[in-house]
Amino acid sequence: MPDALADVRKWAGQPVTETPIKGGFSHRIARLDAADGQRWLLRVLDPRVAEAGLGIPLDQEIANTLRAAETGVGPRVLHRMPGALLLEYLDGLTLSAHDVRTLPGSIAAACRRLHSGPRFVNDFSIFRKLDEFLAICHTHELRTPDGFEDRLPAAAEIERALAADPLPSVPCHNDLLPANLIRCGMEIRIVDYQLSGNNDPAFELGDIAAEADYDPDLTGRLTRAYFGESDPRLISRVRLNLIMSNLTWSLWFAVHHGLLGEQAAAADFDYDAEAADKFARAVRDLDGSGFGRLVDDVRGGRTPGAPDSPPRGDSPASRVRPPM
Ligand SMILES: Nc1ncnc2c1ncn2[C@@H]1O[C@H](COP(=O)(O)OP(=O)(O)O)[C@@H](O)[C@H]1O
Ligand SMILES: [Mg+2]
Repeated sequence: MPDALADVRKWAGQPVTETPIKGGFSHRIARLDAADGQRWLLRVLDPRVAEAGLGIPLDQEIANTLRAAETGVGPRVLHRMPGALLLEYLDGLTLSAHDVRTLPGSIAAACRRLHSGPRFVNDFSIFRKLDEFLAICHTHELRTPDGFEDRLPAAAEIERALAADPLPSVPCHNDLLPANLIRCGMEIRIVDYQLSGNNDPAFELGDIAAEADYDPDLTGRLTRAYFGESDPRLISRVRLNLIMSNLTWSLWFAVHHGLLGEQAAAADFDYDAEAADKFARAVRDLDGSGFGRLVDDVRGGRTPGAPDSPPRGDSPASRVRPPM
């Protein structure tokens, strides 16, 4: 791998020191301090991550990072190197799950800004990602959480329900765990475009809710803050995507555990336990008494005779205010 730090020193024309940053799951991330006091973020992309299907191809990630920077939500790209990026250092607070639970309005605003920017160079579907991970697990005989395949019919049911009345796709990050959100003053900035691609905005919201363990009320608040309206079918749409986030990303951790074990050991994080934990959350919601109602809501009408059926109106897509 070319020495990115040497490249930065040459580019900067001055001594630069590197301080590794822990906390990410995939790449070599470091804060760089130049002799004149400037500070940058170095992101050296590990090609094994994309090769294992755990991220989009590196050229797509770099192109999308540039587009996200145009919106002001992503960090500015200061210098490009083979397989590495020098980014604006965001001098703020990396959020915890607790922070994400207290800031649904600001996070929704950041998403709207990203989503109203230039489209990304690739499309992304959480359902195709699930298929891809399963194929990788089969090919490499990797262990999936116990009972995983029993849940595939439910995933197909969710996909059919969401496809009945789809929302227009927008440039999504698709991996908004708390560590990818940085609060700078009143503003939320978004880093790490490893899984970005044009997608249903309801997945972005459901993924945020899954990663910070939102309850249904908070998921509703996030959805209303984003869409600016309170159509219960949009909330149900986000809640089904919350389930898909837990289900599919449980396999992200299973694949990482199986194929990149050495890297995982260095990161000092239990990827296998995280896979089990995410799957358990998906199962909790799939087996919960409200699951069938979410599916019916999103399909646009409940089973005839069911109590408190919602009024049938326009399709959600036609009533959704486009992101500003
Ligand atoms: N541009 C940035 N400015 C400041 N800190 C950053 C920046 N990018 C990432 N970080 C910090 O580094 C951590 C890991 O970075 P990230 O890009 O998410 O790596 P990974 O792809 O390995 O998850 C983030 O959680 C955040 O704390
Ligand atoms: Mg990250």
